[in-house]
Amino acid sequence: MKLEIQNVSKKYGKDKYGVRDYSLTVEKGILGLLGPNGAGKSTLLKMIATVSKPTNGVITLNGNDVAKNANYMRNQLGFLPQDFGVYPNLNAFEFLEYMAALKGVGGENLRPRIEGLLEGLNLMESANKPIGTYSGGMKQRIGIAQALLNDPKIVIFDEPTVGLDPEERVRFRNLISDLADECIVILSSHIVSDIDTIADEVAIMKNGNLLSKGNQSEVVELVKDKVFETTIPRESLSDFKANYLVVSTARKDGNLKVRYISDKPIENSTSNEANLEDAYLYITKTK
Ligand SMILES: Nc1ncnc2c1ncn2[C@@H]1O[C@H](COP(=O)(O)OP(=O)(O)O)[C@@H](O)[C@H]1O
Ligand SMILES: [Mg+2]
Repeated sequence: MKLEIQNVSKKYGKDKYGVRDYSLTVEKGILGLLGPNGAGKSTLLKMIATVSKPTNGVITLNGNDVAKNANYMRNQLGFLPQDFGVYPNLNAFEFLEYMAALKGVGGENLRPRIEGLLEGLNLMESANKPIGTYSGGMKQRIGIAQALLNDPKIVIFDEPTVGLDPEERVRFRNLISDLADECIVILSSHIVSDIDTIADEVAIMKNGNLLSKGNQSEVVELVKDKVFETTIPRESLSDFKANYLVVSTARKDGNLKVRYISDKPIENSTSNEANLEDAYLYITKTK
């Protein structure tokens, strides 16, 4: 499996770009697409999923232009859009059977497949209840299940962990790791902790541009030896922020413990080990 995004732009209106001259190659494994709200994640993912077409540039799957031959992509694709909606009156079985029919998936294996997915996503107990009665996390899990109905080879989840509680997130992670053994999985989020530890590769985007891409240690390398911790009086925080990139603060004995990024530490700082959160902040704030 090879997905190639070549100089792709999506223009909304005259001078407004959702994605701008974006190039990226993805092979087997999990790609985490990270970026703040408005970065262009959904715009990019919709073009890959053939829901919209690039204004410029080409997206290919195994060499096939997906704008010209959408079915080649669609036959192998599982997609959870960010704004995924369900039919509230259908129960889980009815909804997934309906989605399967739309995807042209059927046969005697369908029912066991649906049961397997509901089992894996911990939805079996409620499977006979109307989806309208489900919690946000349960609806999200139904969305994940429909994306996997056709045994896809490329799976795209746009902000899949929104609404999931911590336990559901763990389940989701496990499910994704199992999938990724043979597929391309692309997962978007604006929350670093959704992506770190699970993604093989990370692509950070902002303002429609790709800012950085690599495996996690390559991306973290960018802030190596730049992450420090120090303690400052609480009232100095705004001055401090004007001069240094602050990752986090915590109260400590009436003062503030500050984790910050800088080429050089100020006095009385200790060096901290860099992580993806630091790198994400550094890349999106300074580029
Ligand atoms: N249909 C649209 N028409 C006009 N502008 C849009 C449309 N969809 C998205 N945008 C704009 O494109 C940019 C990227 O949006 P989006 O792809 O939704 O970002 P993300 O998913 O990273 O939050 C934003 O500035 C957004 O306002
Ligand atoms: Mg989005």
